[in-house]
Amino acid sequence: MGNSVELSAPKDLTLPANPGFTQLESNMAEEPKFYHPDPSVVEYATVKEYDALYQRSITDREGFWAEQAEALDWYKKWDRVLDDSNKPFFKWFTGAKTNIVQNAIDRHLVTRNRNKLAIIWEGEPGDVHSYSYHALNREVSRFANILKAMGVKKGEIVTLYMPQLPELVFGMLACAKIGAAHSVVYGGFSADALRDRINDAQSRVVITADGGYRRGKPVDLKSIANEALKHCPTVEVCICVQRTGQPVYMENDRDYWYHDLYKLPVASPKCETEPMDAEDMLFLLYTSGSTGKPKGLVHTHGGYQVYASTTHKMVFDIKPEDRYWCAADPGWITGHSYIVYGPLINGTTLILYEGAPNHPYPNRWWSMIEKYGINILYTSPTAVRGLMRFGESWPAKHDLSSLRLLGSVGEPINPEAWRWYHRVIGGGRCPIMDTWWQTETGGFMITPLPITPLKPGSATKPFFGNECAVVDDHGKEVGPGEEGSLVIKNPWPGMARTVYKDPDRYQETYWSRYAAQGWYTVGDSAKRDEDGYFWIIGRIDDVIKVSGYRLGTAEIESALVGHPAVSEAAAIALPHELKGNAIHCYVILRANQSPSEDLAESLKNQVADHLGKIARPDGIVFVDSLPKTRSGKIMRRVLKARALGQDEGDLSTLEE
Ligand code: PRX
Repeated sequence: MGNSVELSAPKDLTLPANPGFTQLESNMAEEPKFYHPDPSVVEYATVKEYDALYQRSITDREGFWAEQAEALDWYKKWDRVLDDSNKPFFKWFTGAKTNIVQNAIDRHLVTRNRNKLAIIWEGEPGDVHSYSYHALNREVSRFANILKAMGVKKGEIVTLYMPQLPELVFGMLACAKIGAAHSVVYGGFSADALRDRINDAQSRVVITADGGYRRGKPVDLKSIANEALKHCPTVEVCICVQRTGQPVYMENDRDYWYHDLYKLPVASPKCETEPMDAEDMLFLLYTSGSTGKPKGLVHTHGGYQVYASTTHKMVFDIKPEDRYWCAADPGWITGHSYIVYGPLINGTTLILYEGAPNHPYPNRWWSMIEKYGINILYTSPTAVRGLMRFGESWPAKHDLSSLRLLGSVGEPINPEAWRWYHRVIGGGRCPIMDTWWQTETGGFMITPLPITPLKPGSATKPFFGNECAVVDDHGKEVGPGEEGSLVIKNPWPGMARTVYKDPDRYQETYWSRYAAQGWYTVGDSAKRDEDGYFWIIGRIDDVIKVSGYRLGTAEIESALVGHPAVSEAAAIALPHELKGNAIHCYVILRANQSPSEDLAESLKNQVADHLGKIARPDGIVFVDSLPKTRSGKIMRRVLKARALGQDEGDLSTLEE
């Protein structure tokens, strides 16, 4: 019966244009249980064995991390590796003095790395700038001196709202160098989102740019910043980097062109790095959670530098000669840990690219891999799926043989995309490091190493020092293949220390569900299979991942309710072929309003204007009521099950 249905497919069914898809279909039957690494990869790898080192890292966690920390420079070594006297507010390397810039830049200046390329930056129009570690130090020092001249003090928080320019990296490092904390707000966020983050951090200084290039057009950033700054009473100084040269409004006595400041004698290329306590704040990074207010996660100099550099070095098997490209935006945690800090601490040559992956043609990335001889490419499943759509002929135009390792992050990678990435981009020889982690974790938590036998779609096993489990509501580990809540049973040096100005929220969000056991609640559902491999399924809280971007349902709903026509709203995620998930909203209108196409468009725009384009819903459905619990909580799970035609599950708490 099944066959006859397949055979009578509609006549207009067209075969995919990409021959790779058909080949994949026919290969599926022969899918091996494991993809074993190529012997050349194993031979080259620094970490050649997982089990023994993992066991050691668990039985002597502090010893393991102390050993990793020894590989870095410190002005003064720690008294204690881990201080767990005030759980869950763990501290690492207490008593130590350091500054992440000491390791990301300063220590390279007295080695052969001094003249090595640190950053190769390519603009979307094709302009290229490269910086050695020596040059990077000069740029960062000049920026640091400019910030000092603007009165920036140790401990204050500087907000950066920038496109992917070298100056974003210089600005972050300049803040760290003088002991200020940075709060980078992704350049795709709206004026409202920027305003809220600046106000929460009470920034006095904001760094932005006139714009950047995206798909051949200048994107306007300064006017969005201007809009936000109208409602940011703490901001006294706005430094603007000129990239596109488009006309922008500069406010007298507040706004300064970076290139003007750069010419002043004060912008000297020499600047001392400020010694910091290991636990001093390095940066704040806002991320969405289950309430409307994004939380500012606090990361510190000492533990974070150890965690970001160790995970980066071991998972991407970093060698001195490598050219490494993490194609994320520095404005997200992936960019913080694996574009900027991890790679620079490891003395890596990193690639930074300003624009769209398919500009001017869908081979932009592949041509860059060939041009720069890139060895490691780290990106998201959404980017892989997006580029896969254009077919194999685009990568086939380029010699990708320099690639040794691939990486994936941000959302589960579907096996089809995994296999395409592995076969077409990695030539079947490059293992894919599917790294599972979060803004909160600072670095990889569950991830393969190059030597790990892989299963497409699984992030495999915990990184050293970490004990992860999939548990039920009572904290009991579920059986192999069963779905449950992912927890981490131990502290690790890269963990966020708190939510800025809201320690209760930190404790409540992450540590209250399994308070008795003292475990960290991730907020993801997962399975563990019979080989001990972890499979991340998705968020179980009110967070939606769209193209790997993290958004809160509450933020989307409050943007909708802010529209004069809307009385109530609920947002859910529905699966989407390219984006992983797409946002769909259910809206109850006010009494005098009636549904229309135009209104649906205007509501979509309302969300995009409030949060940024990434949050624009795909669908708006007008409804008369929403499924709620007796206590009035919207049951999004029911909406989702209905939309997908699935079983609605337990409805006992549903109010009629
Ligand atoms: O749901 C998981 C998903 O992304 C969430 C964290 O989002 P964010 O803080 O924005 O950090 C993204 C970059 C680290 C996780 O709770 N996620 C991240 N990596 C993976 C993933 N889901 C499946 N597989 C991954 N490799």
